[in-house]
Amino acid sequence: MKGIILAGGSGTRLHPTTLSVSKQILPVYNKPMIYYPLSVLMLAGIREILIISTPRDLDSFRGLLGDGSSLGIELSYAEQEKPNGLAEAFIIGADHIGGDSCALILGDNIFHGPVFSTLLQENAGDVDGCVLFGYPVNDPGRYGIAVLDAEERLVALDEKPERPRSNCAVTGLYFYDNDVVEIARGIEPSSRGELEITDVNRTYLENGNAKLVDLGRGFAWLDTGTHDALLQACHYVQTMEQRQGIRIACLEEVALRMGFIDADSCYRLGAALSSTDYGRYVMDIAQEFAPGVAE
Ligand code: DAU
Repeated sequence: MKGIILAGGSGTRLHPTTLSVSKQILPVYNKPMIYYPLSVLMLAGIREILIISTPRDLDSFRGLLGDGSSLGIELSYAEQEKPNGLAEAFIIGADHIGGDSCALILGDNIFHGPVFSTLLQENAGDVDGCVLFGYPVNDPGRYGIAVLDAEERLVALDEKPERPRSNCAVTGLYFYDNDVVEIARGIEPSSRGELEITDVNRTYLENGNAKLVDLGRGFAWLDTGTHDALLQACHYVQTMEQRQGIRIACLEEVALRMGFIDADSCYRLGAALSSTDYGRYVMDIAQEFAPGVAE
């Protein structure tokens, strides 16, 4: 499976902060926002990942993440000229996807919860159709939402409905089979002038091949769309990390645990940042993983 992170858009709701910097580079507590969605794709076992952003911002992502080889992954980059809609990611990324299945994650979505990596890997293997991830919210009108029938079967998908028929938001993580490229090429722009991901998902639903996985109430799916939401996300990460002594979305740790890099490489990555808590954490993880690695 190939991965795509869509990290463009104009970030207007975060102006003036995002007037000259990409929203997805802003820190969420102690690391850039894009670390969070990138860690999700890595936890799903995906190693070939395309990062799509604006012509203005693409070099910042390149500067931050490079070609991914230090993390045992392959990163490539592509421009989205204008925010023409989420589904344009599959058209821009058609060559990257090739004949494979594809996972799309929005660069501003933060996921955190128990056994998430198992859930991701179970659903990433052998996708037939599309897999959506649902999450209960108290303001469903702000999202794409999923409507289920009495037997919990997915029966409808609405984009930001005025009168939501459910409180189940469709999160910004999507798994698709290879048909997604042709489906995206076939949809028309919405009244907002965008190629809507919900129209892609609706096509799968009409073909009887859309599945919804409920992330459930013990899970955290966080928004970063406004200054308040961003601050809340920072506080969430700070609280979890300080209470448990762990790091959320530490890419070096994820790469090590997924077997993409060995403990020696992980230690070296940490040592390069040894003046920071982040770097020392990475070194500690490498040592825990393979005692004696530093000697
Ligand atoms: O976050 C989940 C929601 O994401 C879903 O529930 C909705 O169905 C889906 O349409 C989307 O809604 P948003 O209102 O969050 O979409 P927005 O236009 O804000 O775009 C989401 C992110 O993607 C944002 O960080 C900007 C980026 N983006 C957006 C567009 C339209 C791009 O990189 N390119 C684009 O063309």
